[in-house]
Amino acid sequence: MQDKILKQNKEAWDAIADDWFGTTALPIYGVFIPTETELSLFGDVKGKRLLDIGCGSGHSLKYHGDNGASELWGIDISTKQIENANRFLQESGYTPKLFNSPMEINPGIPADYFDIVYSIYALGWTVDIERTFRLISAYLKKDGVLIFSWDHPFLSCVDTEDDRLIFNGNYFETEPFTFQKDGNDLFAYNRKFSDYINPLARAGFAVEVLVEETDKAALEGGGEFRSNYYSPVKAKRFPLSFIIKARKL
Ligand SMILES: C[S@@+](CC[C@H](N)C(=O)[O-])C[C@H]1O[C@@H](n2cnc3c(N)ncnc32)[C@H](O)[C@@H]1O
Repeated sequence: MQDKILKQNKEAWDAIADDWFGTTALPIYGVFIPTETELSLFGDVKGKRLLDIGCGSGHSLKYHGDNGASELWGIDISTKQIENANRFLQESGYTPKLFNSPMEINPGIPADYFDIVYSIYALGWTVDIERTFRLISAYLKKDGVLIFSWDHPFLSCVDTEDDRLIFNGNYFETEPFTFQKDGNDLFAYNRKFSDYINPLARAGFAVEVLVEETDKAALEGGGEFRSNYYSPVKAKRFPLSFIIKARKL
């Protein structure tokens, strides 16, 4: 089943890569959540070695390159995303080291090497979160930092009915499901917070920050309407995205 999911998701991301060029990238972390400019979770990246898990078109890597990071590494399951990222970063004057591979295996990334490993709306695609956190832990130096963002676990459970929110899902339902993105079928997982926190602890991480916030624009009644799923009506009452910053002990 896991191989089937990875194959299907790779094909889908290859098909939609061009439409997603430059979206969901730093300083943006996710949906209606404060940006890196406001949160400063990365701190000063000057001279640091960074690895982006699910690097997409490379825009977050460029953000760090522009802030002085010394090495830009990335991994992504989509061949098309990696082609786009390589082209975009080279045109921007960088020489990244990018791997076209699922995050669930190590395609040749060095151990005890990185200051920061991060993932902007990509880590949640993993079919094996336990293994993914263990791999990331191995890539990091001692005291290295993991930062990642994804859908808040409540998001899939809550529907809107006019201005009301209805708890309509099942928080315990964590089996993979399919949905359509731009006409392509993808598999995804809803995970509980314990499905992140407990594997992080087992992989040797201590959580330092959990961001559960909605940005000012959405709280004040603004915020561009994206869909019933990512709706500002929901964002006013609970965070649609979360960010975790954890340190390798
Ligand atoms: C929303 S995009 C990420 C954007 C990117 N983080 C950025 O900052 O520009 C999600 C990415 O996850 C990748 N992805 C999905 N499943 C994956 C997997 N199992 N292993 C590695 N990458 C995966 C997709 O190909 C896609 O490029």
